[in-house]
Amino acid sequence: MSKKVIRTAFAGSGYAAKFHYEALMRLHSVKPEITGAFSPDAERLNLFTGPRNLKAFKSIEELIDNSDVIHVCTPPSTHEPIVIAALEKDRHVIVEKPFTGYFGDGNDDFCGDTFPREEGLKLTLASIKRMINAEKKSKGRIMYAENWVYAPSVIKEKEMLEKSKAQILWIHGEESHSGSHSLTYGQWKFSGGGSMIGKGCHPLSAALYFKQVEGKAREGKPLRPSAISARTHVITRMPGYLNEGHLRTTYKDIEDFAQMHVIFEDGTFADIFASELVLGGVHNWIEVNTNNHRTVCNINPNNAMQTYTPDERHFRDVYIVEKTETKQGWSSVSPDEGWFTGYQHEMEAFYRTAAFGEPLESDSRLAADVIATIYAGYLSAERKGTEVPVTLI
Ligand SMILES: NC(=O)c1ccc[n+]([C@@H]2O[C@H](COP(=O)([O-])OP(=O)(O)OC[C@H]3O[C@@H](n4cnc5c(N)ncnc54)[C@H](O)[C@@H]3O)[C@@H](O)[C@H]2O)c1
Repeated sequence: MSKKVIRTAFAGSGYAAKFHYEALMRLHSVKPEITGAFSPDAERLNLFTGPRNLKAFKSIEELIDNSDVIHVCTPPSTHEPIVIAALEKDRHVIVEKPFTGYFGDGNDDFCGDTFPREEGLKLTLASIKRMINAEKKSKGRIMYAENWVYAPSVIKEKEMLEKSKAQILWIHGEESHSGSHSLTYGQWKFSGGGSMIGKGCHPLSAALYFKQVEGKAREGKPLRPSAISARTHVITRMPGYLNEGHLRTTYKDIEDFAQMHVIFEDGTFADIFASELVLGGVHNWIEVNTNNHRTVCNINPNNAMQTYTPDERHFRDVYIVEKTETKQGWSSVSPDEGWFTGYQHEMEAFYRTAAFGEPLESDSRLAADVIATIYAGYLSAERKGTEVPVTLI
């Protein structure tokens, strides 16, 4: 396979930009020329570009002009304008989750806890439409950076669904941990919500993807979500919460627990949990119950490697696994976290699409279905779990 040079740049220079960069260093099919990065905080930008010998662009426009593929690794509130500006110049965009959302009315007194969810749903659907329309007019593609779709265990289950022609009866999944590190996460005006969107989008994407795969394998067309009942809770901001210091507690106006019951057009369903209330590291798993097999994908943690130390000082300089509070005692080590979580595989797939036009698994339709389902979920949660139909774009 010939190697084509593609110019690449990063919008954002924080956590996601770093793991995107690491994945690019290990691409096989395509050798991207990384031109540089842009983020508004010059100091943090230089900390990212300096050690990697990248150019620090002065503006997002300069970045777009100097790249073929743009990695959108910025807070969710900025995804839509960056994606549309890039697509207008026929660039491909690799956009991080969540695809888009509702980020308030711009007023200082906007409060994520109390705004009317129906309005949020309406404006979110409008945002999705603008992004999809921009893609339709562009030579560029939206590549939705949902790493769960590319996690090896999910890819294997896809093969099993296709070859066994299984009917998925119900799905059970979760993404939880002790709280996001991002400073902007926790304020609805930047994140577009809390656990339901920030974490729940991952297992929900995998569930929606599996139903797409099932539908295509048996009927030639994807099965899509039709309705949702959801509940959200705010636990770490309860006056009675007893803070032992292990969970992040600095959320301003988002939920820290969410439960989604998603019903598909064929009457089957998925139950998804997401929270900031789980100790012991990232808890990412999805279980698929079908009429001919049952699969559990343990994305994180898994037992590929386990280690024990009586004193965590021995592992002071050793990376073990994401977000565990201690390295002492037994740990489930991730020997190659980017591989198990799908970061490596998603970049390989996206660059094969960009360079050779190969089909895209995690595309704008999946991104749109996920966000439309979640914002219908916020309306349901406002109504204490009443079922709300999902509007598909
Ligand atoms: N797939 C995953 O597992 C995963 C994990 C973490 C974060 N994310 C996603 O990645 C995105 C970024 O999150 P993060 O954790 O890196 O946050 P972060 O706070 O660490 O970094 C955000 C970066 O964006 C920059 N930025 C802010 N506004 C900008 C703008 N208008 N233009 C360009 N740059 C801008 C900031 O200066 C910062 O460099 C979010 O959408 C988040 O949900 C995904």
